Amino acid sequence: MNIAVLCSGNGSNLQAIIDKTADGYIPAKIAVVVSDNKTAFALKRAEKAGIETLVLNPKDFASREAFDKEIIKDLRKRKIELVVLAGYMRLLSDHFIKEYGNRIMNIHPSLLPSFKGTHGVRDALEYGVKVTGPTVHFVDEKLDHGPIILQKAIDVKDDDTEEGLLERVHKEEHKIYPEAIKLFAEGRLKINGRRVVIK
Ligand code: GRF
Repeated sequence: MNIAVLCSGNGSNLQAIIDKTADGYIPAKIAVVVSDNKTAFALKRAEKAGIETLVLNPKDFASREAFDKEIIKDLRKRKIELVVLAGYMRLLSDHFIKEYGNRIMNIHPSLLPSFKGTHGVRDALEYGVKVTGPTVHFVDEKLDHGPIILQKAIDVKDDDTEEGLLERVHKEEHKIYPEAIKLFAEGRLKINGRRVVIK
């Protein structure tokens, strides 16, 4: 199974997925890493692993849809069956979501539906929750909203800082994202409305 990973930044989740495809835990191939940011460190990780990259500048396109269509053209050529968002900071157009319906995953650093948006860890800490942690979910047309695949709860410590908590959340992300992709690649995820059942 060919997968595409879309990244805008550091790419630590991409690295976890690279490592877990290389050692055979995930029975799939990362056929391409796509980025909207030519300076993303994720691209260096891809190159080091010998994975092809596609870099597009949103400023070169008239609309979100035109940008996404260019990506889709490439993904079709590569026969991509799963699109993995890993720190990809752009909203997908409806066009993209229709094309890859129920075949796009995202990871978010809070227990959804709490603390959607770009600062999931900071917002959870400031709110004072005692438990937080990452969520892997399928992507639908609403932000951080689609059916939940896996979540991992982490205790928040009284003296936690954003950096410390973020580090522990990331550590768990690097376990549950490869696990979710493995389950998908093995055909073990069944979507039933909002519920995802693992077979
Ligand atoms: C992760 O915390 C993920 O939950 C969020 O963006 C961050 C990406 O980190 N969607 P990285 O680029 O994988 O290191």
